[in-house]
Amino acid sequence: MKVLVTDPIADAGLERLRESGYEVETAYDVEGDALLNAVSDANGLIVRSGTDVNRDVFEAASDLVIVGRAGIGVDNIDIEAATENGVIVANAPEGNVRAAAEHTVAMAFAAARSIPQAHARLKGGEWAKGDYLGTELNGKTLGIVGLGRVGQEVAKKLDSLGMNLVAYDPYISEDLARQLGAELVELDDCLEQADFLTVHTPLTPETEGLISTEELAQVEGGYIVNCARGGVIDEDALAEAVADGVLAGAAVDVFAEEPLPKDNPLLDVDDVILTPHLGASTEAAQENVATSTADQVVAALREEPVINA
Ligand code: NAD
Ligand code: MLT
Repeated sequence: MKVLVTDPIADAGLERLRESGYEVETAYDVEGDALLNAVSDANGLIVRSGTDVNRDVFEAASDLVIVGRAGIGVDNIDIEAATENGVIVANAPEGNVRAAAEHTVAMAFAAARSIPQAHARLKGGEWAKGDYLGTELNGKTLGIVGLGRVGQEVAKKLDSLGMNLVAYDPYISEDLARQLGAELVELDDCLEQADFLTVHTPLTPETEGLISTEELAQVEGGYIVNCARGGVIDEDALAEAVADGVLAGAAVDVFAEEPLPKDNPLLDVDDVILTPHLGASTEAAQENVATSTADQVVAALREEPVINA
């Protein structure tokens, strides 16, 4: 049986598949007909966020039993088409949570202290000490939109660093929020109270464009962090709000279109700092998600229960 892997995953995951007796084919950066051709005789497919697993993929892969997502977000997989074609979709919901939360905290600090901008100028030979007067996170209010696994981990970390927490998540209980030291509020209150607003929802029809011009104006003078999914925050609106001084700055790891096209408006604004979807890119996280995804693919191919873990 063949498992096709179309986005790079840690070697430990590939090894686990081979040790379990499966042929492993890696085909990175394939799309269109090349992807359809590669998947046509695959029994398992493993992806991260770089492969568009659309209806054509399911229709081309008549032997496909499972798509394993070595990570959390499944917005690049057509779940309806998977169901119609009887294919299991399993993600790795735990393995990169700490990495994503740490990156979020790092991005908040980097934006608040203009670390990338100061670093670039110093490397360019400029001692711009007088140009950067930062903001402390201590004592400020963090607004969290989406208090799931990553949002909760961010809450714990930034609570311990002295931030006040408010959160908007219509699907969790007030009790859970309270246990994390956060007050559960409506979206308007979350936006208005936040000095730093961080987004941790999945990208769904409900969350797409959730934060746009009007919502950004409610965070007036604050910072936005998005290490969840591009598309939850409207990129044109965010670029404009920072460029016009409505917001102090923003830190963004994820984009509506990836890799980031050269004409993305966020690239042109000084106080917007960017990373290329690095939230889950730590050795530990990559090993975790690769091995747990491999285990789920092996289980499915052996007709054993698949537990999203
Ligand atoms: P999760 O499913 O555990 O939590 C998501 C939370 O969002 C849930 O509590 C849910 O109730 C809430 N939510 C859903 N719709 C909402 C809405 N309309 N308004 C407010 N809240 C809403 O997911 P997670 O593991 O915490 O991941 C969060 C996001 O981070 C996902 O988009 C995931 O893909 C992304 N992620 C990115 C990276 C990265 O590399 N940058 C790494 C890991 C996760
Ligand atoms: C995820 O949803 O897990 C992240 O986007 C991480 C990734 O796959 O790079």
